[in-house]
Amino acid sequence: MSRAPIAVALDAPDLETAALWAKAVTPHVQVVKVGLELFCSHGPAVVETVRGGSGVDLFLDLKLHDIPNTVAGAARAVAGLKPRFLTVHAGGGADMVRAAVEAAPDVTIAAVTVLTSMTPAVLDEVGLAGPPLDAVRRLAALAVGAGAGALVCSPQEVAAVRAEVGPGITLITPGVRPAGADTQDQARVATPEQALADGADLLVIGRPITGAPDPGVAAAAIAATLA
Ligand code: C5P
Repeated sequence: MSRAPIAVALDAPDLETAALWAKAVTPHVQVVKVGLELFCSHGPAVVETVRGGSGVDLFLDLKLHDIPNTVAGAARAVAGLKPRFLTVHAGGGADMVRAAVEAAPDVTIAAVTVLTSMTPAVLDEVGLAGPPLDAVRRLAALAVGAGAGALVCSPQEVAAVRAEVGPGITLITPGVRPAGADTQDQARVATPEQALADGADLLVIGRPITGAPDPGVAAAAIAATLA
């Protein structure tokens, strides 16, 4: 059976748990995602631990945002870990995104447009007035123009972003919940089937899989709905 276009968010309290989850889900999914908490706690060694012998693709979700020279240095530093995706904030500007792209040519740079945690009021506070979708589309176009090969956006925005950037750019969506699953703190969710139908290429799913009694079984069940 081919593996599903899912990136399992390994938001684990410790390295052992992350490794167990990774081992359980990798037969069923294409990607595992290591985020800031795990990377800051355990450093680059976490990558080898979660990858194990599986050869699963790695999504390094570090959301880099600094001056271009510093982001280039960080991207170069983690390129040796051979992630398939590395995230940067599109809000850092075109030169910053381009610096990451050029520093890590074998890695797909995934630009985060607007964090889904930001409400219109918060966006207004930081000077991004207007409908959030306008900022999302503007930042998506900016990042793709700077060479980003992927974008992270909410499932609610994915159709508009696809229309903005066209085919050929990998669209990655968190906030995905199987029908009937607990939404937890995700406010704007879509089912895996809907997100793919709207143009997503890779679905980030965490707790519906890692919080299940058997993460392997949960991953297989969601993967089966997409087969
Ligand atoms: O457990 P859950 O499925 O909500 O996990 C979603 C993952 O996607 C988490 O690692 C979260 O940090 C990440 N994420 C998100 N929303 C964004 C960007 C990343 O939920 N806008």
